[in-house]
Amino acid sequence: MKLFVALLAVGLPALAAAHSWIVCTDYLENNGWYWDQAKCRAWPRGAHRHNLRFGNFGHHRGFLNKLDNHPEETALCQYPRNDDTEYTDVMPMAAYYPGQTVVLTHPTNGHVADVRCKNDTNIYDTENLIFAVDGDDDPCCIDSDKLIVVEDMGISPYGPNIDPVLTTTYPKPGFQNAPKFCEHERASMGTYNFTIPLDMKPGRHTFVWKWIRQIRVSPFTTCWEADVFATKAERDAHYTATGQSTVDLWDFYQINTIVDGQIVDPIDPVDQILIG
Ligand SMILES: *[C@@H]1O[C@H](CO)[C@@H](O)[C@H](O)[C@H]1NC(C)=O
Ligand SMILES: *[C@@H]1O[C@H](CO)[C@@H](O)[C@H](O)[C@H]1NC(C)=O
Repeated sequence: MKLFVALLAVGLPALAAAHSWIVCTDYLENNGWYWDQAKCRAWPRGAHRHNLRFGNFGHHRGFLNKLDNHPEETALCQYPRNDDTEYTDVMPMAAYYPGQTVVLTHPTNGHVADVRCKNDTNIYDTENLIFAVDGDDDPCCIDSDKLIVVEDMGISPYGPNIDPVLTTTYPKPGFQNAPKFCEHERASMGTYNFTIPLDMKPGRHTFVWKWIRQIRVSPFTTCWEADVFATKAERDAHYTATGQSTVDLWDFYQINTIVDGQIVDPIDPVDQILIG
């Protein structure tokens, strides 16, 4: 019994840590190193209830949705859809246009194989998908035919015998795209990108992120709404009217010169865009 308790005490923090959720649904910087709420234009459903914007990036404060086999108890989306109550001026809904590359951010919560700080290359990543919902009602379940796959964001390299260099190479696909993981294993930022399909009908759509960490572990999901405008010009008009930047994302690795893991000549476009 004592041994069992000791094992629990050692094992639980690691298990409990490996969960996640989407914090930002329209982030300006692709493949970035550090979370900055000023670079986030839009937020998931119910974000304001958990202070996702100004709270500690690695704490969910109850904003976490892990599915099980009981959709009547654990719905696909943590909050039922209500566009009037689930978004605020401080944490608004996203605005996209067909062809836009959208960047999402999430905390890593310890779940990255990076041999600079973890002596383990076998950190699973099983599925990272973005769906759009067909219709206005939330689907019951993750296998509903109302969920249309918009993008498969790949999986991160892992395995007991992979070349360790793969684990320290960024950008990487999937959940573990978190170049500064080793600086803060729980609260470091991972980013994904997906592209709004060219044939997506203008109008308001619900999007769903699904992450399967390991086949035995139930999926994690986050839901959000976005107004899809027919053109970038129309989307820009919307963001201008709400006081947001209309610049689309830049890529961290393209704007910075990185030598031996250090940024040479640092520039931060957010200063020019949001302040200048
Ligand atoms: C890393 O893990 C391997 C295999 O489990 C072990 O042999 C080695 O001693 C570990 N190294 C460190 C620095 O913990
Ligand atoms: C977007 O993410 C994918 C992996 O899902 C990656 O292959 C691709 O290079 C990324 N696009 C950009 C512009 O970074």
